[in-house]
Amino acid sequence: MNYAQAEKMLKSCGQEHVLAYWKKLSKKEQAALLEQIATIEPKSVRQCRAALGVGVENGCRKESENQDGKAPKVAELKGAALKKAIAAGEKELKAGRVAALLVAGGQGSRLGYDGPKGCYSIGPITGAPLFYFHARKILARSIRYGAAIPFYVMTSEANNEATVKCFEENEYFGLNPDDVFFFTQGMWPGMTKDGKIILDQPGHVFMSPDGHGGLLAALKKSGALADMKKRGIKSVFFFQVDNPLVEIADPAFIGYHVQEKSEYSLKLCAKRDPYEKVGMPMQFGKSYRMVEYTEMTDEQCNRKAKNGKLYFLYGSPAIHVFDRAFLDREASKAMPLHLAFKKIPTVVNGKVVKPDAPNGYKFEKFIFDILPNAKRAAFLAFEQKNEFSPVKNAEGSDSPATCKADMQAKWARWFAELGVTVPTTLPLEIDPVYAIDAADLKSLGLWLAAD
Ligand code: UD1
Repeated sequence: MNYAQAEKMLKSCGQEHVLAYWKKLSKKEQAALLEQIATIEPKSVRQCRAALGVGVENGCRKESENQDGKAPKVAELKGAALKKAIAAGEKELKAGRVAALLVAGGQGSRLGYDGPKGCYSIGPITGAPLFYFHARKILARSIRYGAAIPFYVMTSEANNEATVKCFEENEYFGLNPDDVFFFTQGMWPGMTKDGKIILDQPGHVFMSPDGHGGLLAALKKSGALADMKKRGIKSVFFFQVDNPLVEIADPAFIGYHVQEKSEYSLKLCAKRDPYEKVGMPMQFGKSYRMVEYTEMTDEQCNRKAKNGKLYFLYGSPAIHVFDRAFLDREASKAMPLHLAFKKIPTVVNGKVVKPDAPNGYKFEKFIFDILPNAKRAAFLAFEQKNEFSPVKNAEGSDSPATCKADMQAKWARWFAELGVTVPTTLPLEIDPVYAIDAADLKSLGLWLAAD
């Protein structure tokens, strides 16, 4: 892109002030600014501006929108139904029709960790990073079912290099590099209340990652969707980087998704308390929508069903299965934007000013906003203690300490199934390739019997 093209593009969406300091920039700064402007799409700028306006299509959710839907019907698979779902899922896995999709573009700011969150050390004994547990589970399942499970990892501009380096240094944790596909999410410019792009340096636009919903556009742009299609992938298992307990490509979940002919399936678990910070899928007429925990009222959080349990009992830990063709269909559509009002450094009269109060908006897309577009959705219950213990905060709940304790308790339950009691004081860690569940542990021939 040259100066004239940049000026024309910026004018087309009311942003010519981005070039205000052009003449004061060095040649290098000018080139960098043009490069940055080339990544900004006028239609995205228009969408951000529209979101800052009122009652605009494809904008953020309107205040008046009904947020009080019905609790969805959630399946609890047991006995024969569970066996059938597992068999259906195993068939998909053996046929190589399942992929794993990880969103790892976020910044571990709440955790106070600088690098990619996936590099955060969580192995109770080895100190292995979060990525290790994800990759080794994928490897274990692909060994068990004799077919590759391609692994698509979404990074952000800020952490892509460090993420790839972490995989390379660890020899892809045993995975075949040909089956690991990194792709980077988009960045969106920040804006003032009146829809003007913010410069955080005279020659630099303030940009921030476009949220995990940026996944769809990035999947398409990077060729990852086309790669999935070429490989014959049908079901895409989606998960977040911070939860090492997740049962990636769980056959029961994949099978249930396929049996239900669902386009978007969600694993849900009973909330630990009425205010647990998880999204809540609700039914509105014939479709479903995720209502974030920040949007729930006190009354909704505490509402009771006839059986005395919470009416909105099941929350979403962001463990999904998507139909690949559904992702394809959604990838070209505009998604709603969520706004965050933040303190953003700004250039005033050529000088960088760090504001004391929020002064501008960041824009994010959330993947679960495509839920209402699914022709069929399915909801499956699971036990939180077995599959969800995220690392979000440095201390307290959802911290490394609680997560490590939950990982060890899960492994200890596997041993308990074999009749072996592991003292809670004994550190415990199992490589997923060594054993991915209690049955695997048992099949190893109980070397523990000597105990
Ligand atoms: C999220 C969900 C919430 C769910 C909870 C479960 C949102 C808005 N809320 O909350 O419904 O119950 O997880 O743990 O998502 N990410 C990117 N790019 C981004 C932003 C995030 O890839 O631009 C990734 C992160 O790396 C992470 C995941 O998305 O893997 C979730 O992000 P996070 O900010 O931790 O979400 P929560 O607010 O904890």
